[in-house]
Parts: sequence; C-alpha cells; structure tokens
Amino acid sequence: MRLTHLQIETYRRDGFLTLDGLFSAPEVAAMRAELERIQVIDTDHLVREKGSNIAKTIYQVHEQDGPTGSPVFHAVSRTSRMLEPAQELLSEQELYIHHTKCNLKTAIDGSVWAWHQDYGTWKRDGMPEARPTTALVMLDEPTEMNGCLYFIPGSHKEGNLEPEFNDATGYKFYVTPKDKLLEIMARSPAPVAITGKPGTVVFFDCNILHASGHNLSQHNRWAIYVVYNPVSNRCNDVPNPRPDYVRSTNTKPLIKGSDHIFPLTSSTQEAR
Ligand code: SIN
Ligand code: MN
Repeated sequence: MRLTHLQIETYRRDGFLTLDGLFSAPEVAAMRAELERIQVIDTDHLVREKGSNIAKTIYQVHEQDGPTGSPVFHAVSRTSRMLEPAQELLSEQELYIHHTKCNLKTAIDGSVWAWHQDYGTWKRDGMPEARPTTALVMLDEPTEMNGCLYFIPGSHKEGNLEPEFNDATGYKFYVTPKDKLLEIMARSPAPVAITGKPGTVVFFDCNILHASGHNLSQHNRWAIYVVYNPVSNRCNDVPNPRPDYVRSTNTKPLIKGSDHIFPLTSSTQEAR
C-alpha cells in the first residue's frame, strides 16, 4: 500500500496521518473478540484501572507466544496495510515492534491519559533517536464523550521535552510538565480530537504531544497501538531495563504477512 506525497507531507507537517477504513468490520470483530479473550488472563502484561479489576492496558499482543500472544494481532501488525505505510513514513525497510499496547478505555471506568510524548519513556528504554511511528487501530468509534485521543498538531517539531515521572492520573509514567505544556499550547493550533469509524488507522510521531480524557459514555473506546521502530534504532543496554513486554528484545526485522488474514480458519492457523 503506497502513500501519496500529500499524505507523507501531512504526516511530516502535523505529526500524524489518518487512514480511513483500513480494516473491515469482520477484521475489527476478530480483533475485538481477541481482546475479550485476553482481558481476563491473569498476567503482569495487563494493567488494570486503579482500584478495579477492569483491564486498562494489555501489552505484547503482536507475538505468537507469551501470556498475551495472539495470532490475530500477530497477523494484523504484519499486514502490508500497516507495515508499508510505517516503512514509507520512516524511510526504512527494516522495522521491528518496540511494543504493542491495547487501551481498553471501557465505558464509565476508562480513565485519563495526561499530556505526554511517547519518546519521553522510550529514550529511557535506551532508544537512541526519536524515530518510531505508532499505528493506532480504532476498534470502536472514539468520540469526545468516550475519551478519544487529542493531538497538538505540529508539536512533534518541539523535539523531546524533559518529562516528569508522575502518577497524578493513577498510572505512573513520563508526562509533560504543565508550564512547558501551557507555553506550547499558547503558540500552537488547538488540539484536535482523533475520532473515526472502527477500522480507521492513525499513524503518529513519537514526539507528538497527546492526551485523552475519561470515558464518560456508555460505550467502550477500545484501541490498539503498534509501535514500529527501525532495527537500526533498537535500544541500547540500560541499567534495570523495563520488561520485554514493553521494551521488546525481539528486534528481528518484521516479515510482511498476508493481507487475507480473516476469518482465521483452521487451515490458516496450521500454516502459521
Ligand atoms: C497513550 O497515549 O499511551 C494512550 C492514550 C489513549 O489510549 O487514549
Ligand atoms: Mn502515548
């Protein structure tokens, strides 16, 4: 799947690019069914909403093995629909997945993600440069009411801002300090709500400022994020590295898979 020059320019200018209808309704249904299956597994690869048993984030679904491994997400993350745009946007052929993360922002309970840049965390993983692109796959229809993501267009051009390690929103991670954020907001376009139909994919730069609010609605807002990084930019050794499920040590170049992956029949399962 080739991107147009305009699409590539849009990504470079805004820090994100939306591709509508990349996955069909049956494909989205297969992904959702996988998350229904995985969300009840008892594993440290799954983080729950604070003070509750509800799954907030599930990691490492893109491998075949491991507690949260999934043939469906293994296939999805290797389709040409995902891999080729990532290769084009990064101008690199050899990519691996730094991690996958499924954010199940469930009706009423799904909670806030504070403003941050993803590379703030990945730099501390030992990643040499701010290169990755992340593909967000919408599995429900994100809306302003159910806690869709917001981007500040063009904010990736700020470079990586020194973050704070903060758990003000119930989940400790590297967030952008308020003073810096307000300064950038004052001279940037207004944040844009990332809404769309299930099956939409949004690629975004690892330095774009992004956040999302609480899910106040009766509808789930499930999404999966696949982080593609050039093999040449794999992480260096760091003291006390984060676990493999968030800082993958499988840095072998991804091999493109079939685009005709659903429904998964017993014969296609055996072929894998
Ligand atoms: C994230 O930025 O890591 C998660 C944001 C979201 O899923 O709303
Ligand atoms: Mn993020």
